[in-house]
Amino acid sequence: MIIEPRMRGFICLTAHPEGCAQNVKNQIEYVKSKGKIDGAKKVLVIGASTGFGLASRITSAFGCDAATIGVFFEKEPSEGKTATPGYYNSAALEIEAAKVGLYAKSINGDAFSNEIKQQTIDLIKKDLGQVDLVIYSLASPVRMHPTTGVLHRSTLKPIGGKFTNKTVDFHTGNVTEVSIEPANQEDIDNTVVVMGGEDWSMWMNALKDAGVLANDAMTLAYSYIGPEVTEPVYRKGTIGRAKDHLEATAFEITKQLEDVNCKAYVSVNKALVTQASSAIPVIPLYISLLYKTMKAEGIHEGCIEQIQRLYSNRLFSGNAIPTDDKGRIRIDDWEMRDDVQAQVSKLWEVATTENLSEIGDLAGYKQDFLNLFGFGFDGVDYLADTSELVFVPSMK
Ligand code: NAI
Ligand code: NA
Repeated sequence: MIIEPRMRGFICLTAHPEGCAQNVKNQIEYVKSKGKIDGAKKVLVIGASTGFGLASRITSAFGCDAATIGVFFEKEPSEGKTATPGYYNSAALEIEAAKVGLYAKSINGDAFSNEIKQQTIDLIKKDLGQVDLVIYSLASPVRMHPTTGVLHRSTLKPIGGKFTNKTVDFHTGNVTEVSIEPANQEDIDNTVVVMGGEDWSMWMNALKDAGVLANDAMTLAYSYIGPEVTEPVYRKGTIGRAKDHLEATAFEITKQLEDVNCKAYVSVNKALVTQASSAIPVIPLYISLLYKTMKAEGIHEGCIEQIQRLYSNRLFSGNAIPTDDKGRIRIDDWEMRDDVQAQVSKLWEVATTENLSEIGDLAGYKQDFLNLFGFGFDGVDYLADTSELVFVPSMK
């Protein structure tokens, strides 16, 4: 079968196994080119198959020489149907790790459930004993609460009033105005349940209670702040409330895990094209203007560059971990530079359908979006037959 991209709104229904493997190989090469990092040695990544979580797994493995266990929720391939990209990414990661003798195993299932937590604990016990770093990088629209059985849905809504601003359909380049009705209290509560810190805390306590968390271990979750134009729909919207909760949970976890001296941190990362961010209104337009500006300044980064810098310059630099006045690690520092933000605001004011391909990096956005699904990579023969199903080695 020859696999082509099949776009449906914010997602692509197909993924290319060879292309996803190429994506992983490119990220590995990047990490290797930056040299070894004296960091964690046994790493659990929750949300390990795409975006920042995948970059964290790659940096742990190929930067720190760490054994990694990756947890994710992806679809396997079947006759005539491709897997989701995170599945192929994880297959490639395990294959590349095996080539250099690095331990890498994966668990595919709902990380919010008690069952997957238990499976993960059992695997750590059996193979690694303990872990010394836990990356929490889930992005999900729903969470089935493990104790109540209630299915919660997160929303991306403003709070306190309707929000109207520009947005772009990145497939067509059409810039239009979008209006989003404000959230009610239930929307806010549900979003906090899904994307806040409760599940992170449940994971960390379960790991500790099972004795699989090493003394002096560290755990890290990812957050976002961003500019004023996206504030109503992001940082001051429902998702922002969840991020406030996640950030507050870092302090809770550090307190709860005091006896094993485990420290919990939140890292604020840069806006990037991922499956999660493509679904948020207004953000794709901001990202296309941001990419243009940061590329012109020579400071553009993708997930792997962000996480490699996070590990080498923040987490494992040999110095104390630098944080802002709210205790957060800031690897969004280049995005938030005054000159970058001033330029993006200027572009935001004038952006239209007619000028976006010039003043914004719409092409870069589209390229990154295709890349998420394994399409558009040099060195991949997209006309070749791919009828052999690719499986994650540890899950065969
Ligand atoms: P992503 O969509 O690329 O990755 C999500 C990961 O979570 C995947 O590995 C997926 O398999 C896994 N996952 C989702 N539901 C699951 C479930 N029920 N059980 C197990 N695994 C599940 O998302 P991205 O963008 O990498 O987001 C990761 C974190 O980074 C999120 O907290 C996000 O808010 C944050 N972040 C994202 C930014 C962006 O611009 N993309 C910027 C700053 C922070
Ligand atoms: Na991720």
